[in-house]
Amino acid sequence: MTAQQIKSVAIIGAGASGAAAAAAFGAEGYFDKIRVFERRETPGGTWIYDGDPRPALKIVPGALPPDIDRPLTIPDGLPKTTTPSSQERFERTPIYDELTTNVPAIAMSFSDLPFAYGPFAPHWVPRQYIANYFSSHRTDLFLALNTTVEDLSKLPTKTTSSGTRWKLVLRRHDAVRRVDVWWEEEFDAVIIANGHYSVPYVPPVTGLGEYLDLFPGKVSHSKAYRTPEEYRDKRVLVIGNSASGHDITTALVKAARLPVYQSRRSRSRWDGANPPEGIEWKPVISEYRSNGDIVFDDGSILSSIDAIIYCTGYHASFPFWNAEANGGPIFDYTQNRLVGSYQHTFFPDHPTLGVVGMPRTLTFRSFEYQAIALARLFSGRNATALPPQEEQKRWDKERWELARREHRKFHDIPWDNGETMEWLRWLYELAGLPELEGAGRTPPILDREVRWAIEHVRKYPEPGDGEKRLKQGAGTDVDTKEDDNGWVLVGSEAVRDRLHFI
Ligand SMILES: Cc1cc2nc3c(=O)[nH]c(=O)nc-3n(C[C@H](O)[C@H](O)[C@H](O)COP(=O)(O)OP(=O)(O)OC[C@H]3O[C@@H](n4cnc5c(N)ncnc54)[C@H](O)[C@@H]3O)c2cc1C
Ligand SMILES: NC(=O)c1ccc[n+]([C@@H]2O[C@H](COP(=O)([O-])OP(=O)(O)OC[C@H]3O[C@@H](n4cnc5c(N)ncnc54)[C@H](OP(=O)(O)O)[C@@H]3O)[C@@H](O)[C@H]2O)c1
Repeated sequence: MTAQQIKSVAIIGAGASGAAAAAAFGAEGYFDKIRVFERRETPGGTWIYDGDPRPALKIVPGALPPDIDRPLTIPDGLPKTTTPSSQERFERTPIYDELTTNVPAIAMSFSDLPFAYGPFAPHWVPRQYIANYFSSHRTDLFLALNTTVEDLSKLPTKTTSSGTRWKLVLRRHDAVRRVDVWWEEEFDAVIIANGHYSVPYVPPVTGLGEYLDLFPGKVSHSKAYRTPEEYRDKRVLVIGNSASGHDITTALVKAARLPVYQSRRSRSRWDGANPPEGIEWKPVISEYRSNGDIVFDDGSILSSIDAIIYCTGYHASFPFWNAEANGGPIFDYTQNRLVGSYQHTFFPDHPTLGVVGMPRTLTFRSFEYQAIALARLFSGRNATALPPQEEQKRWDKERWELARREHRKFHDIPWDNGETMEWLRWLYELAGLPELEGAGRTPPILDREVRWAIEHVRKYPEPGDGEKRLKQGAGTDVDTKEDDNGWVLVGSEAVRDRLHFI
């Protein structure tokens, strides 16, 4: 399908990515139909606060989204009304009481609407901000709330010389009638903006499965954490040393029995030589024993732990992606990346599909560049052309080789080595300027003030030589060595990117 023939667009998700996409597509004034499908009752995505995390999510060590976030069975003969599905869909969010943003507001917000205040705002500020962003762009008119996309399939029978259409199977939960209403809609193009912090991940550890059975309720994931008060006077072990692990361990010092134990697999930039007061660092857990003992890699043992909180992150989930109809999966969980993407945004094999929000880099602001580039492309108004399919596929292959070689995650885009700016510049140049008459959004600039904020305004101060490392610039004191294949291996004490925690 050529861009001129894309007249209807479905956006999956009304978080920050969906908000950026809706604003960009709406601003083109070109599309006949734009719909934003959101399974929650309001826009806001991750930033919606669910005060009560119960019922508890079942912990399944090592389980990935295809194991635990399965597609629903779609009823025959749509449209149809059914009894409500009770299958866990992981809609609730991990927002805890004391959470504040960790990216300076000037860099985190979209370019055309500031946060109410900052630099680090409590969680309700971005939540309200996203809702405001929809209404200030009048894209709230596109919203279909309480509506989950349960299936996304290419329509082969509708393929003509001009291209393919997409069929979405939708399920709206009607809380008043206590029913699920199912129906289908077709679109020329689809933007996936479904986020990737919904399905928690707990790594497999020897004995953990049995431990979960023997001590029910003792092990949880940070997704269910809300307040340190729940842990008053308890002996707590936190696992993980990224943003959740850091925040939760620090908060627990105020309520839990000291020390709070924190199992770290790697250092963060904010770690000094010794743990902060009230915290004891432990290495990775090697075994859980049936008598309740927890054994660590260095042979040390903790007994009588009351609560264990896994802050080991999340995996992206696409239960709606119909792999059979669409020629294969969209995500590779062994390589932890989208299958066949280009610039983390486009798909050479699916030219009418886009994704916003996948890379780990500047969040809201980077979604804006992706969204504007996609809207300009799908309206046929892009300033520069996408390269030929072969070149797009080569990018994917080369990026994967780079990720493997440097032991990096495919969708992590570092700041310190200039990669973020390079990526944003590429999207900026693809998008180009709006029409003289005003249609379209201008991709924002990332001026000196914003870049200064990114580099200097930090929620987690870096002790010791942190400042020196920053002044020295990107990767200058990274401990590297070559392996037998001549690959550069990054040592355990490598200086992490300054935005590694985002
Ligand atoms: C605890 C925590 C703290 C964070 N703190 C920060 C921070 O301080 N600063 C920062 O920049 N980033 C932070 N992030 C990252 C945060 O996820 C991004 O800021 C941003 O909100 C991501 O937006 P998104 O729209 O891509 O995804 P989300 O916010 O996850 O939104 C995706 C939306 O899609 C909906 N959806 C999913 N599947 C379907 C479906 N099948 N049908 C319909 N709707 C669907 C979801 O309900 C959700 O509303 C944090 C993340 C977490 C988990
Ligand atoms: N605004 C805020 O203040 C705030 C607070 C919380 C979360 N967030 C955001 O939420 C998102 C998710 O963050 P997250 O911290 O939940 O997840 P995350 O960033 O993915 O971090 C997962 C952590 O688990 C560790 N880990 C994985 N397997 C382990 C094992 N077997 N033993 C010990 N540690 C292990 C990882 O170690 P390695 O580093 O070695 O892989 C890493 O420290 C991020 O975007 C983050 O910025 C923001």
